[in-house]
Amino acid sequence: MVLRCAQTIPAVVLLILAIVGILLVVLPTEEMKQHPQNMYGIVLDAGSSHTSMYIYKWPADKQNGTGIVTQHDECHAKGGGISSYAGIRGGAAKSLEACLEQAVKVIPKSRHHQTPLCLGATAGMRLLNIVNATESQQILKEVEKKLRSYPFKFKEAIILSGQAEGAYGWVTVNYLLEHFVKYGFVGQWLNPGRETVGALDLGGASTQITFETSEKVENESNMMELKLYGQIYRLYTQSFLCYGQDQFLRKLLAHLIETQGVKPQVFHPCYPRQFNTSIKLGQDVFDSVCTKNYRPAQFDPHMTVTVVGTGDYRSCLDSVRKMFSFGSCPYSKCSFDGVFQPSLRGSFMAFSAFYFTHSYITRLTNIPITSPNQTEEAIQLICNMTMSEMMEKTKQSEKYVKNVCAVSSFVQVLLTQGYHFDEASLPSISFQKKAGGASVGWALGYMLNLSNLVPAESLGLMKALPSGPWAGILFLFVALLFIALGYLLMIYRNTKAREDMV
Ligand SMILES: *[C@@H]1O[C@H](CO)[C@@H](O)[C@H](O)[C@H]1NC(C)=O
Ligand SMILES: *[C@@H]1O[C@H](CO)[C@@H](O)[C@H](O)[C@H]1NC(C)=O
Ligand SMILES: *[C@@H]1O[C@H](CO)[C@@H](O)[C@H](O)[C@H]1NC(C)=O
Repeated sequence: MVLRCAQTIPAVVLLILAIVGILLVVLPTEEMKQHPQNMYGIVLDAGSSHTSMYIYKWPADKQNGTGIVTQHDECHAKGGGISSYAGIRGGAAKSLEACLEQAVKVIPKSRHHQTPLCLGATAGMRLLNIVNATESQQILKEVEKKLRSYPFKFKEAIILSGQAEGAYGWVTVNYLLEHFVKYGFVGQWLNPGRETVGALDLGGASTQITFETSEKVENESNMMELKLYGQIYRLYTQSFLCYGQDQFLRKLLAHLIETQGVKPQVFHPCYPRQFNTSIKLGQDVFDSVCTKNYRPAQFDPHMTVTVVGTGDYRSCLDSVRKMFSFGSCPYSKCSFDGVFQPSLRGSFMAFSAFYFTHSYITRLTNIPITSPNQTEEAIQLICNMTMSEMMEKTKQSEKYVKNVCAVSSFVQVLLTQGYHFDEASLPSISFQKKAGGASVGWALGYMLNLSNLVPAESLGLMKALPSGPWAGILFLFVALLFIALGYLLMIYRNTKAREDMV
């Protein structure tokens, strides 16, 4: 009996060790999370059409894992984007007050002075910066002064480059999906060996595409190398200025006016039949860098024009296609407008206005968008609907619904003809607004970077394992499990045999 115990103990110890080892390697990070005191961070996303504020939180003692930073609160500032306050002293700063007051309330007072606060402006300010750099700097200065007047740790108020915006969106997507690392043994990061997901962002004034590639990036300005958790990611990223939905709609109107001539009435094939609306030539069409090339030699910016809808899908699609240039390509391959793009790889997440457009299409038609043909069928249905039909089905006002046919057609052309998504790759796009309770956008990636919440370098303690060794360690523990079980079985058999002999 004594002999049997002495034999069994090492085997049982081995067995427990193997099970614990396997659990440590395989369990997702959530199971290991604790929630002591939280840290907070604030990002103001100053877009072209409006400003949103996101407040993030994470446990104070654990900072470097994926899925550890979560969204605590959000706020959408009333009024337009900060660039719309050009020439209105103090307007942009004032527009942020309500959201900042909300931040003061929802973040515990004891944490205020440690909470980083930053503002990133995107394509709306990039455009203003082209038109009048003095004015855009003036707005940023005013906004910075306002942000500094709050008890938080002010970091910066800047205009993000298109590449940065694309890359931060990609970081956000993959951080939320926990595609970077897994928390393994205490203090050790493991690469889960999963492919990263590409990011598709559609704003008001620009659109971004970002994905990992192993191909040669022929234009250096499209190349981004990120080192996260000790792993190097080679990204292709491109931001198309003036291809955000608002600027695109402006360009489309400008093109229609240019081809039909400056008249009191202009026909719009993408507006619902029998619908009409009036616009001012300056303010609504030509007062933008994006419509510069369509500007007639002479026109009165105050002239009012009635835009009359004809609801004609074919003609709408034709006009939309004319907004892209699919002709010359100075590289081995291009998306459009002579911009280099390597072959699409892996799956994608499409967010912001891509999500809203997709949601309108499915709500209006109940057709799932999984192939180019289905997309075309759905959009054709939408472009044939009357205004009242669309308003009834979406429960949205005229203001939003009138552009659904135009924007859907734009998204269709952009994804299929522009980026070359096809029968096989289109279904790999998932349209999402939120993931893991956080809004998908560039804001989270920006904050992770600014607050050093994602270790950029491989540290001795947090060595990222490539997927090979990860599988190797798992294999070793599984082997150990079988050896322990085999050993126990052997002891059991031996004892049984001895007892039988007695
Ligand atoms: C640019 O904006 C400044 C005010 O910030 C104004 O004084 C100046 O006239 C503007 N320049 C142009 C070219 O519009
Ligand atoms: C515009 O719509 C109104 C009704 O909303 C209608 O009375 C008017 O005749 C329309 N104008 C044109 C040019 O179709
Ligand atoms: C997180 O990583 C940074 C380096 O990027 C390091 O300085 C910091 O100590 C790490 N924090 C924790 C809690 O491990």
